Amino acid sequence: MAMETKNEIIERNNAKLLFTPGPLTTSDTVKSAALKDMGSRDEQFIILVKDIRNTLLQLAHVSQPEYQCVLMQGSGTFGIEAVISSAIPRNGMLLNIINGAYGRRISQMSHIHNIPTLDLHYHENQLPILGEIEKALVDIPQITHMALVHGETTTGLINPVEEIGLLAKKHNKTYIVDAMSTFGAYKIDVEKLNIGFLISSSNKCIEGIPGFSFVIAREQDLQSCENQARTLSLDLYSQWLGLEKNGQFRFTPPVQALMAFHSALYELIEEGGTRARGKRYAQNNEVLVNQMRKAGFRLYLDDAIRGYIITAFLYPEDPAFSFEDFYQKLNDRGFVIYPGKLGRTQCFRLGNIGQLFPEDMNNLVVAIHEVIAEIGVKL
Ligand SMILES: Cc1ncc(COP(=O)(O)O)c(C=O)c1O
Repeated sequence: MAMETKNEIIERNNAKLLFTPGPLTTSDTVKSAALKDMGSRDEQFIILVKDIRNTLLQLAHVSQPEYQCVLMQGSGTFGIEAVISSAIPRNGMLLNIINGAYGRRISQMSHIHNIPTLDLHYHENQLPILGEIEKALVDIPQITHMALVHGETTTGLINPVEEIGLLAKKHNKTYIVDAMSTFGAYKIDVEKLNIGFLISSSNKCIEGIPGFSFVIAREQDLQSCENQARTLSLDLYSQWLGLEKNGQFRFTPPVQALMAFHSALYELIEEGGTRARGKRYAQNNEVLVNQMRKAGFRLYLDDAIRGYIITAFLYPEDPAFSFEDFYQKLNDRGFVIYPGKLGRTQCFRLGNIGQLFPEDMNNLVVAIHEVIAEIGVKL
């Protein structure tokens, strides 16, 4: 197949290609599904919301009444904060497993809401140590909840969600999983993994546009959130009751984002579901990583612990390298990349989720070669 020129890519997409962890490149059908006015009390909209909630439960391999899906306005962080500030009782305690910026963000939330929290910190290129987690669970019986970020988008690391779920089950703790950047592209059987609350959002692997997050919750855990919320708008229990009562949101819903998401869910199913989407992303990632390695770039993480969503690359050692220049010159060519988010190590990140295909990854690396030559960096 002849390689597309960069102008053809831009024209095809009518926009820049986003090699980011979201918001990401979406299909034309998804974008056009948002180009409509719709009343939030319209029967058609209420049916659409119900369909979204049911389809998300299916993707999580669970069903009602044991599991429930709650949609929450705002970005992914709002969904996580809704869970953290609603699920943990006044006499409860959170064990938070941290090896990246999103784990640290959960801790920030629990501190703001005055929730007693034990932070278990690990290095950003390290998996958590299961023995230490278990020791904390045994030593501190006050712990009621555990939180883990499945895919740490800071680095692209995939945490051992299943093994930590087994510890949650063994010690009878409620397990909260931030699956923001993995849900839809990794198989996540919420019941099998003992997850009490899973959170993800509209603009990640399901390939919708930004506007809301969603929570898949075990009904029993959701019921225990009654009268526990520390905020009005992020009250997970009341949000659920509202959706159950009349299918409507308590406050103005992101109507266009929901219409686009409904379309995105159909496209996911048409593509072959989570398995097929994961396979495409893994192919994208393989092309990207192989070509970048060939070009002389080095990865931040060991292959054994990284996933296929996003990859952190170390800055070239040549002092001629400037991320700002690199970013801008790629941007001018229609390729949007992502900065690093690590404390000490200088990295940039390339995502391969969204409407991206192996040829897009090839084209990105061709552009990277051009830009590196233009700014005179030796790899
Ligand atoms: C793992 C993870 N958690 C939380 C978030 C926060 O989501 P948002 O930026 O939509 O608030 C992100 C965003 O990329 C993420 O990747």
